[in-house]
Amino acid sequence: MNAKQRKTPEQLRSHRWYGVKDLRSFGHRSRTAQMGYHRSDYAGKPVIAIINTWSDINPCHSHFKQRVEEVKRGIWQAGGFPVEMPAMSLSEPFQKPTTMLYRNLLALETEELLRSYPADGCVLMGGCDKTTPALIMGAISMNLPAIFMPAGPMLRGNWNGVTLGSGSDTWKYWAELRAGNITEEDWQGVEDGIARSPGHCMTMGTASTMTSAVEALGLSLPGYASIPAPDSRHAQMATLTGKRIVDMVWEDLLPSDILSAAAFDNAVTTVLALSGSTNAVVHLIAMARRAGIPLDLKRFDELARRTPVLANLRPSGKYLMEDFYYAGGLPALLSRIPDLLDLEQRNVNGATLGENISKARSFNDDVILPRDKPLVANDGLAVLHGNLAPNGAVIKPAAAEKHLLKHTGPAVVFKNYEDMAARIDDPNLDVDANSVIVLQSAGPQGAPGMPEWGQLPIPQKLLKEGVRDMLRISDARMSGTSYGACVLHITPESHIGGPLALVKDGDLIAIDVEQRSLNMLVDEAEIAKRRKAWVPPITKFSRGYGALYLKHIKQADEGCDFDFLETDYGKKNTSGAGNVSGEPEIH
Ligand code: FES
Repeated sequence: MNAKQRKTPEQLRSHRWYGVKDLRSFGHRSRTAQMGYHRSDYAGKPVIAIINTWSDINPCHSHFKQRVEEVKRGIWQAGGFPVEMPAMSLSEPFQKPTTMLYRNLLALETEELLRSYPADGCVLMGGCDKTTPALIMGAISMNLPAIFMPAGPMLRGNWNGVTLGSGSDTWKYWAELRAGNITEEDWQGVEDGIARSPGHCMTMGTASTMTSAVEALGLSLPGYASIPAPDSRHAQMATLTGKRIVDMVWEDLLPSDILSAAAFDNAVTTVLALSGSTNAVVHLIAMARRAGIPLDLKRFDELARRTPVLANLRPSGKYLMEDFYYAGGLPALLSRIPDLLDLEQRNVNGATLGENISKARSFNDDVILPRDKPLVANDGLAVLHGNLAPNGAVIKPAAAEKHLLKHTGPAVVFKNYEDMAARIDDPNLDVDANSVIVLQSAGPQGAPGMPEWGQLPIPQKLLKEGVRDMLRISDARMSGTSYGACVLHITPESHIGGPLALVKDGDLIAIDVEQRSLNMLVDEAEIAKRRKAWVPPITKFSRGYGALYLKHIKQADEGCDFDFLETDYGKKNTSGAGNVSGEPEIH
């Protein structure tokens, strides 16, 4: 339990706005009255900022207009004063070139909203892929009491009696359409039925991976990350989240009280047991570094070697998030691996992880697999090194055809996404099932924004021959709903002169996942010759946010945070009114 003294109203951060007798606080009070609030509505109460990433163009958060009212209800009931603050919505299906370009902008916006307004604590409303890490990164840096409210997955997709999974079945049926196995009419039926309720993607994609990781970290109420968005229990969770944050402010329960190296190990282990998205690697590293915890690729690989995949969820397995919730959800899964977790880590509800999962059980052993019948025994993720990836690369072995996990084949190189789009389906392309498809210039600087291009398409002529998986390598990311033998996040990226930039058509590429290696079989003298001749590509942005991004973005193995944001603010915090982040206070 939190050993800190409960705060007094005078110790609230908002007291400096509302509680003092000076000219500026007169303005704050009179302008609050202008909005219809009497001073008894807020005087001496915690002001709770609700950072809401609702937008008309984000279908994953389309229920947030209603949910925010339920969060407010909980805050009022617990004696707080709710203040909704809209923030940038990172809508995965719509934002170009990729939401990843804007993750750090939302993180920055979250931090600065909390810093510049009279917030004593915050509720973070997110779920669509990058919104979760962005909100958490900002809240960690600000280090005010913070609780995350997950958007929840949408209901199962449905078409002609077939259950459809977000993303995974898009890629699957797109390949079948290109192979000529389904009609345009079928494809339209998939389009109409694959997303049929509010909520984020319902496969174990990046959204469910990150909301589950945040629950395991302890930053959202236990057992709630997997509730389907339209379920009435989701609305109840929103109200309970609002109630809890008010007490967290009085208890002065901060992210820095909850986050530790062991808590991040719990989150990584959770991601691995779920066979979660490879995007979690980038996001968890960025989140940990905001808290001053040096999580790295090596730690992911160490934990992967001992963690079984127990969630039988697409894209690696069979079921969807709705099934997972009915089967007991994340607490049931975690209760199967207590020996792999640090059960003493705390949750925002004030209890330990061990206490929170002590009564959990599985109601469907085909969805949450028993320990002795894992989907795969270990290696939900593998970190590769070699002359192609000196600082690392990742692959999700469980989602790949097994024969490709130890493979050597000739490279078919595309110098960027446009080149690939123009030539991949050329009937004259010199490619066969043994080839290794290589995409350059798709990393944090190169694309820019490190888009989810890493599930490179299988050439159409091979699809028609029945090929459904090939070894594909790039410095891009891959959607968590994707599958296949895709090596991702190659670091350093090609755009800044990483070895990936030096690969040429026909070079032999060798992967051995068991040995954790990725190499191009080209002799050192030839590589040195190519390096000397390499010309850096032109940078794409010269002004605006893009220019700021290119100047400060770090590589994937370091979490792709901005260099000026990756700090240990959280550790410097001393808490209490007037000092919340280690940064100079604003007056
Ligand atoms: Fe929002 Fe997949 S599109 S989570």
